[in-house]
Amino acid sequence: AMITLRQLLDHAAEHGYGVPAFNVNNMEQVQAIMHAANETDSPVILQSSAGARKYAGSVFIRHLIQAAMEEWPHIPLCLHQDHGASPAVCARSIQAGFSSVMMDGSLMEDAKTPATYEYNVEITAKVVEMAHACGVSVEGELGVLGSLETGIAGKEDGVGAEGKLTREQMLTDPVQAADFVKKTGVDALAIAIGTSHGAYKFTRPPSGEVLAISRIKEIHERIPNTHLVMHGSSSVPQDWLAIVNEYGGDLGQTYGVPVEEIQQGIKFGVRKINIDTDLRLAATGAIRRHMATKPKDFDPRKYLKASSEAMKGICLERFQAFGTAGYA
Ligand code: G3H
Ligand code: 13P
Ligand code: NA
Ligand code: ZN
Repeated sequence: AMITLRQLLDHAAEHGYGVPAFNVNNMEQVQAIMHAANETDSPVILQSSAGARKYAGSVFIRHLIQAAMEEWPHIPLCLHQDHGASPAVCARSIQAGFSSVMMDGSLMEDAKTPATYEYNVEITAKVVEMAHACGVSVEGELGVLGSLETGIAGKEDGVGAEGKLTREQMLTDPVQAADFVKKTGVDALAIAIGTSHGAYKFTRPPSGEVLAISRIKEIHERIPNTHLVMHGSSSVPQDWLAIVNEYGGDLGQTYGVPVEEIQQGIKFGVRKINIDTDLRLAATGAIRRHMATKPKDFDPRKYLKASSEAMKGICLERFQAFGTAGYA
């Protein structure tokens, strides 16, 4: 059954677990996540970006989710809109049946230019008013996502590509977070604590802490009833990266967020953990390997099945690691 983000994350907070929010664009991804959720008895967050809706069309997205709910009626499911760039985008998702929307007012409507704090407050408060009137939850975002190792905001975040930022500039300010929540009433807040979008997060194998864990704790202490969200939380599995490259891929050496640090984050108030890149890497690795090792196959079901199995493996690991398993 469909539930809101607020309902799901309130439960997660009560029981001290985190919920992976996987990006979905097609049937194989939805099925991979749902099979893993079913096997581990986990509630799920399926999220769709503007790019997903452009790829599949919002009607297909809606019906894929509907199908998942019919097939697995006992799994609580939140359908969340990832990175809404404007109130209009959020309104369309509410109309399309999403139970949660993200208004990313940290960027202007072009999803590139950093916004002022005042703009972010105003636009997010507007979406909260509209969404809450419809029984839909809202995630906001405060801060500039970026890797603390490189001092550069994620390439795929479109911000700060030129100048390096200081550590302080790259972290969400706890006092501002409290003011933001007070003025907007968001249910969940995406914070900048050292993660960045995409596959290229860290250039070296993580040694010591790569995230600002103490900052998570400080923010959580000021806004205990607002659920913290970590974007850019793929761990970039080295085995899948190697498989992609072994079978003709050309990805650079790169490292993601260690699962242990996400577990630390969950301990200090992180409830929603966004993952897209990891499923992309697993799917691509599995398909490349299948194509290379079974050159006579030309039935798409065979290689898509391989991709589903690979994605499901990642989902199983995350449901277990984040403590989601058993809470469906
Ligand atoms: O934050 C971005 C997500 O990884 C979705 O990516 O916009 O290419 O669908 P996308
Ligand atoms: P990754 O690129 O680390 O998977 O992050 C996805 C994300 O934050 C979607 O909003
Ligand atoms: Na941001
Ligand atoms: Zn994101």
